[in-house]
Amino acid sequence: MKKAVIPAAGLGTRMLPATKTVPKEMLPIVDKPAIQYIIEEAVASGIEDILIVSNRSKHAMDDYFDYSPELEELLKRSGKIAEYEAVRDVADKANIFYVRQKETKGLGHAVWRAKRFVGDEPFAVLLGDDIMMGKTPVTKQLIDAAEQYEASAVGIQRVASEAISKYSSVLISELEERIYRVSDMNEKPKPDQAFSEFAILGRYILTAEIFSILENTPPGYGGEIQLTDGLQRLCKVSPMVAVDFDAKRYDTGNLEGFLEATIDYALQDPRVGDWLKGFMSDKLKEI
Ligand code: G1P
Repeated sequence: MKKAVIPAAGLGTRMLPATKTVPKEMLPIVDKPAIQYIIEEAVASGIEDILIVSNRSKHAMDDYFDYSPELEELLKRSGKIAEYEAVRDVADKANIFYVRQKETKGLGHAVWRAKRFVGDEPFAVLLGDDIMMGKTPVTKQLIDAAEQYEASAVGIQRVASEAISKYSSVLISELEERIYRVSDMNEKPKPDQAFSEFAILGRYILTAEIFSILENTPPGYGGEIQLTDGLQRLCKVSPMVAVDFDAKRYDTGNLEGFLEATIDYALQDPRVGDWLKGFMSDKLKEI
C-alpha cells in the first residue's frame, strides 16, 4: 500500500485563539508540527504518496513541506548542518499532494475529495488530530491486518464509557487477539446507543468502494457527511476488520491531549528529557 490521505481541513475551533491564523496541524509538539508526526508514521508504514485535504487557510502547511532555499543556504553557510538536514528532510519525506475541501461538509466529504488521487487501490487514512506513540506504526499494524484478512480496517481502542459519545462506536466479534470483525458502527452515539466501548481512533485502511458509497451518503451527525456513515455501509457489503492497536493515542485537537503529547514526547527526547523530569519534580513539590 503506497497511498495515504490526511484530512486536514478542520477549522481547529478547540484550539483557539492559536488556530485563528496557524493551522492546528502546524502547532508544534516539542519542535515538530503535529502533522509531521502523522507523515512520519505513514512513511514508516511504507506509504510513498500522501494527499493532504486542506482548506484555504492552511497554506502554511504546503510551505512547510516545500524547500526553503534561502534558509537552507544560510544554514549551510553558517555550518549548521544538523539544522540544514532537518529542514531539508521534511521536504523530502514523501511525495505530498494537496487538494482543498472547498466547503466544510464533514470528514466523509473530505475523504471523498481523494477519489481522483486514490484511483482503484486500497489506501490509508490518517486523521491529523490523532498522534500515536508506539513501537510499530499504527498504520502498519492496520495494513498487516487488512492484507491478512483481505479486508478494509479501522484502528480501535477501548475508551471510557462516558467518552464514547465523542467517537464512533463499533459492533465487533473477535477473530484473534486484538483483531475483530466489524459488523456495524455509529457516529457519536448517545451512551445507550453505543455498540461497544471500542471507538475508532483516527486510522483506517479503505478500499476504493468507499468513494461511491460516500457520494450517496446523506449528511448525518452535526449535519455533516460522516466517514463513519460511509464505513457503516462499507462493512455491510465487504469485509472489514478492527485492530485494537498497540500504541498510546493523543487527541492533539484539544488542549489536554495536546499537553499530554507535548510532555510525553519531550520526556522521550534525549535533548530535554532529563531536564524536564527535574523541572517537573521541582514543580510538583511547589504545588
Ligand atoms: C472523528 C471521527 C470519529 C472518530 C474520531 C477519533 O471525530 O468522526 O468517528 O472516532 O475522529 O478519531 P472528531 O474527532 O472529528 O469529532
